[in-house]
Amino acid sequence: MIICDKEDCPRVYCTACMKHLLCPTTYEQVLREDPWECFLCAKSQSFTDSFVKPRTNWKAKIISMFRTNFKSNAQQLVKRNREKKKIRVLSLFDGLSTGLLVLLKLGIAVDKYYASEIDPDALMVSATHFGDRVIHLGNVKGITKEKIKEIAPIDLLIGGSPCNDLSLANPARLGLHDPKGTGVLFFEYSRILDLVKKINNKRHLFWFYENVASMPTEYRLEINKHLGQEPDTIDSADFSPQHRLRLYWHNLPLEPHSLPNQEQQDVQDILTPHCQRYSLVKKIRTVTTKVNSLKQGKLALKPILMKDETDSLWITELEEIFGFPRHYTDVKNLSATKRQKLIGKSWSVQTLTAIFRSLCPFFECNTTETNRP
Ligand SMILES: C[S@@+](CC[C@H](N)C(=O)[O-])C[C@H]1O[C@@H](n2cnc3c(N)ncnc32)[C@H](O)[C@@H]1O
Repeated sequence: MIICDKEDCPRVYCTACMKHLLCPTTYEQVLREDPWECFLCAKSQSFTDSFVKPRTNWKAKIISMFRTNFKSNAQQLVKRNREKKKIRVLSLFDGLSTGLLVLLKLGIAVDKYYASEIDPDALMVSATHFGDRVIHLGNVKGITKEKIKEIAPIDLLIGGSPCNDLSLANPARLGLHDPKGTGVLFFEYSRILDLVKKINNKRHLFWFYENVASMPTEYRLEINKHLGQEPDTIDSADFSPQHRLRLYWHNLPLEPHSLPNQEQQDVQDILTPHCQRYSLVKKIRTVTTKVNSLKQGKLALKPILMKDETDSLWITELEEIFGFPRHYTDVKNLSATKRQKLIGKSWSVQTLTAIFRSLCPFFECNTTETNRP
């Protein structure tokens, strides 16, 4: 620690942090000066002629201080992987196979995509678009060590377990530990992560776990403890027409504050053309499995104006808001309510695309993006 020598100044500075964040000359100057008046006390300086010269990459350095060493691992991996392979994926709680849709959209060549899912409607949507490209493993609880040995090595483990028993929005939530609830399924992700790491041996594993941002701190801290890090908090409104604040625990080589933001997309941009539909909001609030979540604000208003009357979002528009192709969930004569139930649980394709783009340098990747599954 270095203490400011100015009388009455209570400030103390951590030398490790200063070394990490200041440019080397400034840091040495601080050490040499005796007595030393701190950055805020030194009279001679103004903000325009600042004594503190930060490193040009100080933002990245601050972020990396709170992270594990994934970045250097990933950089080494790029060097090692001169010959890029197709990616092998294990997707837990696969839902609408959003993970596969996004990888293909990014042009990443997929060798194997193993998935665990139990909802018949979700399975039907996945089968309609991907057929046997998705290799279904059934209930996550049935994925044994032997099964992982059979499908290893895995390059990417993804999953977002059900949030209904974790979310603050549900006052009757059962939490992380009640065996009757779905919150405990997080531990299945954690168990399988440990297994894959062990069985993969030296093969690098990228992993990614998602859940709602509105969960009690104690759940979040417990998840941190098991996954060994703090999550990134990202709002899908930065990439799509919907606010969807989510926590992402991962070891992907990305800086959440500098994710590429393709184009600003608002609700108006995705409304069905030629139907005189006008959006009353720029971005909609988080869509859940509940029909009421499509209504906006305290007054619960419908967000669309059509021929002088308010209207709800159509289900094809909702698909587009999430980044899915229109009619993606239009299978098996599913009702609009059932389709919303599937979409309301899913990942935002635009957000996942921004996140998974960081995987492109590591795998065989044809950079022309396509929107088709
Ligand atoms: C939050 S959703 C994940 C949606 C997915 N990320 C997507 O983009 O569509 C959780 C999923 O876990 C599935 N699930 C629940 N219990 C499961 C279990 N025991 N094994 C496998 N999947 C399960 C649910 O059916 C649901 O589709």
